[in-house]
Amino acid sequence: MITLGIETSCDETAAAVLRDEKLLSSAVSSSVHLHRKFGGIVPEIASRFHLEFINPVLDKALKQAKIKLTDVDLVAVTSAPGLVGSLLVGLSFAKGLSFGLNKPFIGVNHIHAHLLSAFVGEKRPPFPFIGTAVSGGHTLIALVEDFHRIKTLGKTRDDAAGEAFDKAAKLLGLPYPGGPELEKLAARVKESPVRLTCARLEDSLDFSFSGIKTAVLYKAREMSSSPTDRARIAHSFQKAVVDVIAQKSVQACVQRGIKTLAGGGGVVCNGPLRERLKELTAEYGIDLKLAPMSFCGDNAAMIGYLGYNLFLRGKQSRYDLTPKATSRL
Ligand code: KG4
Ligand code: ZN
Repeated sequence: MITLGIETSCDETAAAVLRDEKLLSSAVSSSVHLHRKFGGIVPEIASRFHLEFINPVLDKALKQAKIKLTDVDLVAVTSAPGLVGSLLVGLSFAKGLSFGLNKPFIGVNHIHAHLLSAFVGEKRPPFPFIGTAVSGGHTLIALVEDFHRIKTLGKTRDDAAGEAFDKAAKLLGLPYPGGPELEKLAARVKESPVRLTCARLEDSLDFSFSGIKTAVLYKAREMSSSPTDRARIAHSFQKAVVDVIAQKSVQACVQRGIKTLAGGGGVVCNGPLRERLKELTAEYGIDLKLAPMSFCGDNAAMIGYLGYNLFLRGKQSRYDLTPKATSRL
């Protein structure tokens, strides 16, 4: 069965083709360069970019997969959460394809797709497992019982981790998107005397990142703007965020007696986070499955993968499906 995945929830326009669970192609075109001068995503620019690039990206994915559009049996598309205008482009496009081809389509939750992105083209461990999705819009720990049975165990109460990285980076004078820039700046120092911590929210798997962001603001004002001082702040911020994500993810596994942890989302590109997760899971005898760097950021391979598996479980969407900026997680 051939599944076409489509993703347009934020600033990446992406299409991918899978034959059953096997990935045949994945094409991504990003508008991030257009947002940089504004210091963050401009929704209108993002949706116009999707409109312009969705056809070429689809053509690229079909060509790479060596298939024709008429070979597609199922269209899977991100329908929530994300920027409504951006989602609308992909969702309308997918509905049009589905209608024209007379093939089913299915709307997919973007965060759930991140939770499962480690398994695209890989052998999947048996359910259940704990999944952690860390992106620009969400930070979620979930019990993944099956593709259609995902239970939230913890989530952020304010900013998402990626958003906190982006805001902290901005306060340190770094360009958007700040996550990778902050990681580079932090790597300039081996350790840091700056004290920064995340709210622990004891007895809960929830997160809060807004306090540490404000603490970065005060440290940036208080300390000099020398590269070393900025790097020290970045280093301490990153360490605090990485520690709390890794610690709560492992805590979820321990609480539930589960021996597999899967992770995905843009922030999982972060080297120190990957390292900390490796260390902690090794300590607790937990098998760690992280999405490869190529599938951490937004992509359509994970959308097609989840959509296909939901379809196998009898799920399908109707044409009156509308995009949702938020999703009940
Ligand atoms: O999953 P993603 O591509 O898009 C959303 O669904 O939001 O995540 C984007 C986020 C941005 O906030 C970006 O700064 C962050 O992931 N990010 C990183 C790194 N690479 C991307 N954060 C920290 N370290 C990185 N290396
Ligand atoms: Zn994402």
